[in-house]
Amino acid sequence: MSGHGDPIKMTAGRGAALKGVAEVPGDKSISHRALILGALSVGETQITGLLEGQDVLDTAKAMRAFGATVTRHGPGDWSVQGVGVGGFAEPEDVIDCGNSGTGVRLIMGAMATSAICATFTGDGSLRKRPMGRVTDPLALFGARAVGRAGGRLPMTVVGAAEPAPVSYTTPMASAQVKSAVLLAGLNAPGQTVVIEKVPTRDHTERMLRGFGAEVSVEQTPEGTRITLQGQPELVAQSVAVPRDPSSAAFPVCAALLVPGSEILVPGVSQNPTRNGLFLTLREMGADIEFLNPREEGGEPVADLRVRYSELTGIDIPADRASAQIDEYPVLAAVAACARGTTIMRGVHELRVKESDRIDAMARGLEACGVAVEEDADTLIVHGMGPGGVPGGATCATHLDHRIAMSFLILGLVSQQPISVDDGSPIATSFPVFEELMRGLGASIVRDNG
Ligand code: S3P
Repeated sequence: MSGHGDPIKMTAGRGAALKGVAEVPGDKSISHRALILGALSVGETQITGLLEGQDVLDTAKAMRAFGATVTRHGPGDWSVQGVGVGGFAEPEDVIDCGNSGTGVRLIMGAMATSAICATFTGDGSLRKRPMGRVTDPLALFGARAVGRAGGRLPMTVVGAAEPAPVSYTTPMASAQVKSAVLLAGLNAPGQTVVIEKVPTRDHTERMLRGFGAEVSVEQTPEGTRITLQGQPELVAQSVAVPRDPSSAAFPVCAALLVPGSEILVPGVSQNPTRNGLFLTLREMGADIEFLNPREEGGEPVADLRVRYSELTGIDIPADRASAQIDEYPVLAAVAACARGTTIMRGVHELRVKESDRIDAMARGLEACGVAVEEDADTLIVHGMGPGGVPGGATCATHLDHRIAMSFLILGLVSQQPISVDDGSPIATSFPVFEELMRGLGASIVRDNG
């Protein structure tokens, strides 16, 4: 069973202005996909800038278990010798995806149309998360899944020996569900169609095309209709993974909050399905400049210059949720330091992330002296203005990397330091977080040295 090391208590306190260049690691979503599509291709895929967070390392290990040869050549520099579409071998043992919902859901999709069987598990957080959202559409291809009550891991998926192509409208805004269906569609004959009412991150569609699949995207009255021509031969590629906007969010928000700060965050993806936070922060009054816009690794990127700013609370519409879904925890921390109230609408998906992020942020902010309101789909934070958050609490992170980093960012400006009970999950997505933040001048320490 998936294990978890000893908790690492961390504390952040007020300190000097943040200065310097924040080179955040590779994009997590793109890193998972590069490994999986590399494994499903013919030939050797070269990947540079791969995120070496635990989530991605677990996907690399899983791809080896399905028969691909995955090799690390140096920091971020990897290769994958693929087995081709339909070439997955049956793993000999349980696939442990650790903390990663993206890893497990995409891999389930990728294996669901091969005549093999695999059993999946994960850590205490992942074993609580719903898998039915993926196994329901995979059943339409002919795959069968048996798991714990509520569609929870551990779960065994028996792939379809004679898969049928599928047309599926995703019932929730989820790139993981969309991607699982598209990856399953690779080994089904004919066309697989996914319709999404709300657009979600489109890295799978972009990368499938890059590897040689025929993918068309059209806007229809029902939503975005994505059509994949099944059974392509995917051809190995060179993938340069751009930096992760969801990791960039932490130094960006820290620089906005700590008086006198000015930092540069180079090469951050400006993919419109991912850039909601930066638009929201600008609407709150943030001084963020987008310099040197260009394309890297098939993604639009820019260098972000960020300066300390006095922010004002805003009402964020539900239709922005998907483009900043992973950024609400740090946005809630920022909102606590803004003047006035910030209303985050349409955020129910946060309840089924690595933790229930509405609950985790609400309870932690209350412990830090911030007034919040919540319902099933909304989080409201009553900002206390610059320097106004009392802090002085230890916040529970519930095995959730983004909750841990968000409270540490808030601790940089609260009146009393803020601790998190366990910062170890930060290594799943941003293994160099502490080092990078300290390099900018932040005071973040481990309580046990
Ligand atoms: C991801 C999709 C999102 C996001 C997750 C990464 C992906 O999840 O929250 O961190 O790489 O496809 P959902 O698909 O559940 O919205």
